[in-house]
Amino acid sequence: MATNGLWIRIEANNSETTNWLERVICSIKGVKIQGSDDTRHTNLLIYELGNDVEKEFLHIESLLHAKVVDEIFLTSSNTDRVVLMQAMRSGVKEFLSHPLDEAEVKEALERFKKRQDQSGSSIVSIKPGHVINVVGTKGGVGTTTVAVNLAVSLAERKDVKSVALIDLNMLFGEVPLFLEIDPKHDLSALTNQIARLDSTFLMSILSKSSTGVHVLPSPRHFNSNESLDPKMVDRILELMTRMFDFIVIDGGQPLNQMSLKLLATSDTVFLVSVLTLPCLSNTDKLLRSLLTLGYPVDKLIKVVINRYLKNSEIALNDAEAAINKKIFWTIPNDYRTTLSAINQGKPLTQIAQKASITKNFVELADRMVLGEAKEEKKWWSSLKKSDPAKRKHVNA
Ligand SMILES: Nc1ncnc2c1ncn2[C@@H]1O[C@H](COP(=O)(O)OP(=O)(O)O)[C@@H](O)[C@H]1O
Ligand SMILES: [Mg+2]
Repeated sequence: MATNGLWIRIEANNSETTNWLERVICSIKGVKIQGSDDTRHTNLLIYELGNDVEKEFLHIESLLHAKVVDEIFLTSSNTDRVVLMQAMRSGVKEFLSHPLDEAEVKEALERFKKRQDQSGSSIVSIKPGHVINVVGTKGGVGTTTVAVNLAVSLAERKDVKSVALIDLNMLFGEVPLFLEIDPKHDLSALTNQIARLDSTFLMSILSKSSTGVHVLPSPRHFNSNESLDPKMVDRILELMTRMFDFIVIDGGQPLNQMSLKLLATSDTVFLVSVLTLPCLSNTDKLLRSLLTLGYPVDKLIKVVINRYLKNSEIALNDAEAAINKKIFWTIPNDYRTTLSAINQGKPLTQIAQKASITKNFVELADRMVLGEAKEEKKWWSSLKKSDPAKRKHVNA
């Protein structure tokens, strides 16, 4: 990472501290001050501690955990041992006590620049902000199962820094149940106060699951999604793409204007189906409608067959012929394991690490991270080596 573009955000309790810090930062080469409504990734947050110390430390931890900021410097006149210990434990890099000392702050900023230079060389470059929208061709095909377990498998990878999961099943969102979280806020908290939207506010709304995935639950009450419009969801998504490596959406069934519009803003749409006639017929109808509406179906949409059985009555190539599209991925049928995971409120990796369905999600995450090109190369070279009779297209 080059040090000619490091962004520093200041959150101080008064303009005097802000102005003082701005003056010192401006004297350092290669760093820039970020405005409060600037949604770009923040490299360093200089945060002045207020009165609600407990809550503020939780906030600091969540910002660091979600990698919304690379580093945090804490400044305060409170140099109580307990506060200093808590700062250290929550991952704060430097503590700048009041009254601020110019030489001390400059040295801390130079150390920050040096760390950024060193860490930059070891970071694996994943294009941040990949939006994977998982939608079902029918209720009950496994849309939530796919969205939740894909998000968790992505979050478990060392090379993926942060993953968010948005539940867009209005009223009947089940993501919190699948991940056994009891969210304090939901999407309506953001849409009702959209003017306040910035990375700090967003992080205070998201629920962190033990899997590391940050969840934005859907509104739980009939009247709480009245104000939801596609423009707001666009704004929220735009901010999230700057903050997270992957944003997985449980899109339910794409039946309204908002979900249709969201398909176009996504990088990848997983259309989840099963190998039954009604479902394939729905898939076909949906693909045709999207094509008519001008969606780049070939590039954008990937058909995922869930509950796949090798001896299924409908063969994969017959299904492909019926929907006139290649099948991107198959997920094995495993009712017992998936249901047990749902009932325990845990992802598959936590209850059945060795099950083939769990490995399948790990491979799917692999595919999403490594990208098409690499996989395609692998696929072709394995084809060349393999027995022609076995050249079926499962997970091609
Ligand atoms: N690969 C699978 N094999 C067997 N059963 C599955 C599979 N995926 C999901 N299910 C089951 O299907 C049911 C519906 O799953 P869910 O993810 O809630 O679907 P949706 O979100 O589409 O309504 C659940 O009982 C779940 O256990
Ligand atoms: Mg669902």
